[in-house]
Amino acid sequence: MNKNILILNGPNLNLLGTREPDIYGSTTLEDIENNCRQHAKKLEFDIDFRQSNHEGELVTWIQQAIGKTDAVIINAAAYTHTSVAILDALKMLECPVIEVHLSDPKTREEFRHHSYIEYVAKHCISGQGAQGYIEALTFVKNSFKQVSEIN
Ligand code: DQA
Repeated sequence: MNKNILILNGPNLNLLGTREPDIYGSTTLEDIENNCRQHAKKLEFDIDFRQSNHEGELVTWIQQAIGKTDAVIINAAAYTHTSVAILDALKMLECPVIEVHLSDPKTREEFRHHSYIEYVAKHCISGQGAQGYIEALTFVKNSFKQVSEIN
């Protein structure tokens, strides 16, 4: 049976393509979703790809994923640096959490250096642009393979 992967995107990522293209590139969120869907098919994953500009909505989606999702890939965008609420919600998940950023926040302004997501993330992919989402899916696949080899 296919594994279920939830891919969450935080505020302002709906405007990718036109938003600060010098930092985030010209790929739209729809392009990223389509690329993820294609790659997920090869990996035999069912993906649920979502974006919200609202912290509470992201928290609700994470809560709804408890016990139902096999992995969460999250680009929490600006909430990465501010949201204890998203961290607390992610802490309730038993599945792996992978943090993704298009840019590398650690090399940008100081206020982007701290990540709340980092406390729970099994792995973080930054600075790879849209390709980072594909790498995150591959990372999840490889970690499932390793678990099944052990068992
Ligand atoms: C981001 C980096 C964050 O610092 C920023 O607030 C974003 C996008 C990234 O993907 O590079 O909105 O998460």
